[in-house]
Amino acid sequence: LKEVYKDYFYIGAAVKLGEYNSTPFYQAYGERLLEHFNSFTAENGMKPENIYRDGTYDFTYGDRLVRYAREHGAVVRGHTLVWHNQTSSLIPGKIPKEEAKRLLKEYISTVAGHFRGEIHAWDVVNEAVGDGSQWRTSSPWYQSYGGPEYIREAFEYARMADPDAKLFYNDYNVVQPGKRERIVRMLEELDLVEAGLDGIGIQAHWNLVWPSVDEISRTIETFASMGLEVHITELDIDCYDGNPSTPQMEYTPELEERLSRRYAEIFEVFRQHKGEVTSVTFWGLTDPDSWLNGFSGGRFLKERRENYPLLFDGKGDPKKAFFSIINW
Ligand code: XIL
Repeated sequence: LKEVYKDYFYIGAAVKLGEYNSTPFYQAYGERLLEHFNSFTAENGMKPENIYRDGTYDFTYGDRLVRYAREHGAVVRGHTLVWHNQTSSLIPGKIPKEEAKRLLKEYISTVAGHFRGEIHAWDVVNEAVGDGSQWRTSSPWYQSYGGPEYIREAFEYARMADPDAKLFYNDYNVVQPGKRERIVRMLEELDLVEAGLDGIGIQAHWNLVWPSVDEISRTIETFASMGLEVHITELDIDCYDGNPSTPQMEYTPELEERLSRRYAEIFEVFRQHKGEVTSVTFWGLTDPDSWLNGFSGGRFLKERRENYPLLFDGKGDPKKAFFSIINW
């Protein structure tokens, strides 16, 4: 995969805690990762809840991922410094503004400073815009600051801590016109490019019918025309319709075919935007490990439901979708 796309973009995968270590179970994963990908993102290991506890920092996981990537000539996308989820060990909720400011500065300086020079791109701020194209006012950062200024400060601190990392704003549903426009206005209102922002991360948690290739194209063009890099940061294709109560489906040959065509059309759009889309990361490696077996329509499912959103099956074998993006 990485060979086929080497003139287009980095091709990455989200890596689970321990996925690349040397136990026999993970050996197959490691081989797939190294064979096909040249960019790694920690699926959870570099989020605040896994780095910060009780005032102390633990970089064990991130250090291992960085070392592994360096040994194998891959880059690392740092995910993520400022978010509302998986962050309560750092900022549990609304706290006094001055305390939040101190914490934001300390956390970003410490973490981006620790990994200085090792991170290709940081998702500095994740999901700061809500679903109704408003600010995500429920974020503990927003609440403590009483507004969105924390976003600009986060970029400034990240820029100071690691001058060479590319700095990204990352979000889902970026292709939705309302949310996309809100993000464009955010860049201008908060002057984020001046603060250090280099690009926009489009998460790309998509499905078999949504979004249209035109909407994907328009979104890439919107940001590219502002002089920004576009990274596809968390690509997966949900085989369900977003309704958590839809019963489990079998992976039929028809579904295999639909998924394969869907991946083919999406990668065609990415290739058409050569030089604009500079990195494409899948949110996982094999179907059974996808977070979508436990997440649908914006919430976590009570029971596991098999989903088939990625390029490799449970045995680690490439699916038809894999070949559809290799042979075009
Ligand atoms: C998800 C992980 O895949 C899950 O393992 C975890 O339980 C929840 O977070 N947007 C993001 C990612 O930016 O960090 C999320 O990852 C998926 C949605």
